[in-house]
Amino acid sequence: MNATLERWSTRRAFILAVTGAAVGLGNIWRFPYITGENGGAAFLVLYVVFVLLLGLPVMMAEIMIGRAGRRAPMQSLGHLAAQAGASRHWRLLGLFGAVTVFCILSFYSVVSGWSIEFLVMAINGDFVGRDPTEIATGFEAFLGDPRRMTFNHTLFLFMTMTVVAAGVAKGLERLNNLLMPLLYLLLLLLAGYAATTDGFATALAWLFRPDFSAITPLVVMHAMGHAFFTLAVGACALMAYGAYMPEHQSLPRAAGAVAVLDVGVALLAGIAIFSVVFTQGMDPGEGPGLMFVTLPIAFAELPWGALWLSVFFLLLLLATWTSSINLAEPMVATLQGWGMSRGKAAAAVGIGVWLVGLLSVLSFSTLAEWRPLFGMNAFDMVTTIPTEIFLPVGGLLIAAFAAWIMPRGEARAALGAGGSGFLLWQGVVRWISIPLAAMVLIAGLL
Ligand code: PFF
Repeated sequence: MNATLERWSTRRAFILAVTGAAVGLGNIWRFPYITGENGGAAFLVLYVVFVLLLGLPVMMAEIMIGRAGRRAPMQSLGHLAAQAGASRHWRLLGLFGAVTVFCILSFYSVVSGWSIEFLVMAINGDFVGRDPTEIATGFEAFLGDPRRMTFNHTLFLFMTMTVVAAGVAKGLERLNNLLMPLLYLLLLLLAGYAATTDGFATALAWLFRPDFSAITPLVVMHAMGHAFFTLAVGACALMAYGAYMPEHQSLPRAAGAVAVLDVGVALLAGIAIFSVVFTQGMDPGEGPGLMFVTLPIAFAELPWGALWLSVFFLLLLLATWTSSINLAEPMVATLQGWGMSRGKAAAAVGIGVWLVGLLSVLSFSTLAEWRPLFGMNAFDMVTTIPTEIFLPVGGLLIAAFAAWIMPRGEARAALGAGGSGFLLWQGVVRWISIPLAAMVLIAGLL
């Protein structure tokens, strides 16, 4: 890749591309279950605070580096570091990001594969007339079937790598234009239905009336990790997209729009899912199966339920697709920067991720009891360590690079917010975001 990359065709296309990266499993699958496991409203408050004080400013930092460097992440970092007279080793941050997204994509593809399975089941009307217990048992049975899971994991990864091999901008713009409005519409409909259920009031209280005694250093760390994960920040993945950002666009506005859209999706999904949880007397801390069990139950009650459920899983699949394309991009860009062709790089990344993904597949059956680290099995490890440690560490370093190292003129131009806007951003990153992330990491890990 060189300094004259293609650009996103419009400002809207850039916002949609970043929203496409941000909105995915993190909002609809991970947010509800992790909020459920960490006590509800208090967790939600922490997560929103982290989005504002950390996620957003660091997202800007990350995109600024890509926008100023106009190259693949490692090359942009190296180029800007050289310009600033700083160590070229800053390039390794791009490599660290690639390792992070590698781990994340390995489980992301497996869980997105669950959506494929559920889409097919919904189209077949498999949930019609089923009671909640049957639906829950059906999910358990699916998890225990590595062959079905491997098939879906393979299919999903193939879908992702094909688009990545073809080049990012072309493949993505059109898809995002259609997807986001539809996803919102369907979630609104679902939340509207939730408002008619018995569990709605309890769900709202549970989500919005915080009990701060539930907060521990570990809960704070989960919330911080999730803020990075949901915004797709900390792994240089958005840096890769920043390289395609048009010249005259205000980054704070674009990033703000993305964050609002992203948190909005999570809240709507949360309201819908927890209403079902409380209506059915289920446990909010049910874990990774939460969405896959509650939503089929909810839709089973609606008129035309099978149709709505099919549309929902289709939209979810598309949302995870645009996120996984973003996850794959930094790795492919890195290999390309080392001289590999785009097609070969996509194939190599695909095969590597597929193999490691098998560990997640088997974590629900054959390898369920293989717990090499702190009692975690392979799936637990790839879902927590990269998200809660690698993303914040990466984000912290990205922020430090943008706010302390990068040439000031370049940084200012890349933010596109004028002089005082720049000073505000720089002040927040230097004196709030970086110390906050460092403190939470230290407290959570001790
Ligand atoms: N933001 C995506 C989601 O919420 O599903 C996941 C993600 C994408 C995380 C890209 C990290 C990343 F670099």
